[in-house]
Amino acid sequence: MNSTEELKFKHSRVNGIVFQPFFTKERLHEIKNYPTRNGDVFIVSYPKSGTMWVTQIVKQIAKPSMPVGIEEKDIIGGTVAFWEFNTPDKLEALPSPRYMYTHLPYTMLPHNSEQNLKYIVVARNPRDVAVSYFNFMRVVNHFEWDGHWDEFFDYFMQGNVPFGSYFDRVLEWWEHRNEPNVLFLKYEDLKKDTEGQIQRIAQFLGYNLSAEEINNIREKTTFSAMKSDPTTNMDQYADKIYKKETQFSFMRKGIVGDWQNYFSEKQLEELNKLYDLKMSKSGLEFEFT
Ligand code: A3P
Repeated sequence: MNSTEELKFKHSRVNGIVFQPFFTKERLHEIKNYPTRNGDVFIVSYPKSGTMWVTQIVKQIAKPSMPVGIEEKDIIGGTVAFWEFNTPDKLEALPSPRYMYTHLPYTMLPHNSEQNLKYIVVARNPRDVAVSYFNFMRVVNHFEWDGHWDEFFDYFMQGNVPFGSYFDRVLEWWEHRNEPNVLFLKYEDLKKDTEGQIQRIAQFLGYNLSAEEINNIREKTTFSAMKSDPTTNMDQYADKIYKKETQFSFMRKGIVGDWQNYFSEKQLEELNKLYDLKMSKSGLEFEFT
């Protein structure tokens, strides 16, 4: 399926990649040229991979230098700004070092070897990403879509979902994982060894934290802590983002393995085949349970 008309949710397509309906070619070009600053930190991910979790961890680590005085309601996600959903003046108002998260493809993000731009990449296994994305897309108002899992699964397999192919997005960063300004994280590692991963993030950002500080950060960023905290559970954006009738919570399940409640045997076989085709040479592996 290549024709955009065949997709049942509202979208645009730029350079062959599906986006939310409001991301035109001109808009993405503008965003690519937003000014960057020495020391900018980007948290990069394919949607539904644990972006807000890592964002909150980063926020806790870097708390002393976190921006203040920004109108939070205008910056989705609070004081760590959503890069492509902001305007340059709001991003400009953030004090250095700026922390911003993004789902944009590698080629649509700024790269500047003369500025020390850092990228924290978070990736999650494709089965749970697909399930999380399906649940999210059904409730977000601008897609005007309430299709079924089987329909979403086909879109996901074709890369016909916003921000394009899961495999392309993850692999394009995996190739850069050994560069000194790139930190590659996996959601499943964050679940299994949260403290170890918080330590990696802290060191990457130049912070030397004690075991107690790390433990405090872990406690403040558990799924249940983030779900019950109105500053982290995203509920304040619900009216703006979700369809009116929905009871959806951004903090949905937060587990590894929910895919088992959605995938048919055939779908699992199909995804495994595509996974092997795309990933086998890369050396990138995920845990699925
Ligand atoms: P589920 O829908 O599987 O529950 P993103 O921030 O990239 O959109 O990712 C959202 C996913 O990360 C959701 O997955 C959400 O529940 C999960 N998540 C958010 N915070 C988390 C946390 N502290 N621990 C575990 N999972 C978390």
